[in-house]
Amino acid sequence: MSNKVVLAYSGGLDTSVAIRWLKETYGYNVIAVTIDVGSEKDSSAVKEKALQVGAIKAIVVDAKKTFVNDYIFPALKAGAIYENIYPMATSLARPLIAKILTEVALKEEAIAIAHGCTGKGNDQVRFEVAINALAPKVKIVAPAREWGMTREETIQYAEKYSIPVPVKSGHAYSVDENIWGRSVECGVLEDPWIEPPAEVYAWTKSPAEAPDQPAYCEITFEKGVPVALDGKAMDGLELINALNELAGLHGVGRIDHVENRLVGIKSREIYEAPAAVTLLTAHQALEDMTLAKDQARFKLKVTHEFSDIIYNGLWFTANRLDLSAYVDSTQRLVSGTVRIKLSKGNCIVVGRKSPHSLYAHNLATYEKGDQFDQSSAAGFIYIFGLPVKTQATLQPLYDMTTEKQDKGNGK
Ligand code: ARG
Repeated sequence: MSNKVVLAYSGGLDTSVAIRWLKETYGYNVIAVTIDVGSEKDSSAVKEKALQVGAIKAIVVDAKKTFVNDYIFPALKAGAIYENIYPMATSLARPLIAKILTEVALKEEAIAIAHGCTGKGNDQVRFEVAINALAPKVKIVAPAREWGMTREETIQYAEKYSIPVPVKSGHAYSVDENIWGRSVECGVLEDPWIEPPAEVYAWTKSPAEAPDQPAYCEITFEKGVPVALDGKAMDGLELINALNELAGLHGVGRIDHVENRLVGIKSREIYEAPAAVTLLTAHQALEDMTLAKDQARFKLKVTHEFSDIIYNGLWFTANRLDLSAYVDSTQRLVSGTVRIKLSKGNCIVVGRKSPHSLYAHNLATYEKGDQFDQSSAAGFIYIFGLPVKTQATLQPLYDMTTEKQDKGNGK
């Protein structure tokens, strides 16, 4: 029987120790799989390290384009944002990583998939639920949840087996990053009263140090997907990279969030998501112009549900597929261009246009050319206000002479 295990390998301390620990504890041979969703790490160095630490094989998969087209854009179309503030870079990448792990596991005939998550976070849930959905028979091992070592003990373990420890003094942070954003927690950030020190940020300038001159950009969408920046057609990856650069330079996309984890803990995390914030803002502005009021109101409920689905690791579910079909249908006419002003940490919509706009100037205008029939408003208000008037007559709530609320007997 195979003793091969496929490990999601980041090159960090925990997953490096896991390679050795899986061998020592269970006699497993590790195939290290590193999935590039756009972190700044050098993937060939990560691959080398896996082999040096004892993996029997190391694979790097560039999944950036798939990430953009199959995960980020469906989430953008849905307006997905957790607790109104977090664009979910980390959450969105997990199902894709799990999918690639299962593909490799099947190909390599591995008996298990392993990940380096602890037992306190969301990511273990996301990985495991996604693997359950795609390969329900595959066994899952979570070394960092099992081994019960403190950070110090993990370092000692690494030293014992000559596993290189990335000692960056003063860097007590845990960082996860991909093209949709950067997530930072731990260290001083665990005190929610402390302002994040400057060193926490890597993608964004402090708004105070951002250029005095604002930057303008125009984002063109087709059916809810951004396809051009300043009139220049770009593929999704290129466009997101360009916006991370530009909006980051202007201090846009810093988020400080005390969030509700799925496992019941409140945690404080700092996010940097310049492109995500800009694109979500622009997309919303285009929907405001192209969706009817009832569509927009109902879609908001779906946005809410869709965001929880992503955060809670339920991407590969029938419910998510059904909601994606709904979301795609809402995007039929969400095409057009939005002009954004980026200035000192602010991302402001300053213009929007669409061939499918529902904004009718002849109805909205207070100038010449007004075609709205103001006289019909009187009849509308008579009927709309009728139940209020009737109730106020028969069951008065307020005594206007004393401004006191009536106690309910109508007297
Ligand atoms: N809290 C975020 C989420 O659950 C990010 C988790 C990973 N963060 C990190 N700094 N390693 O999606």
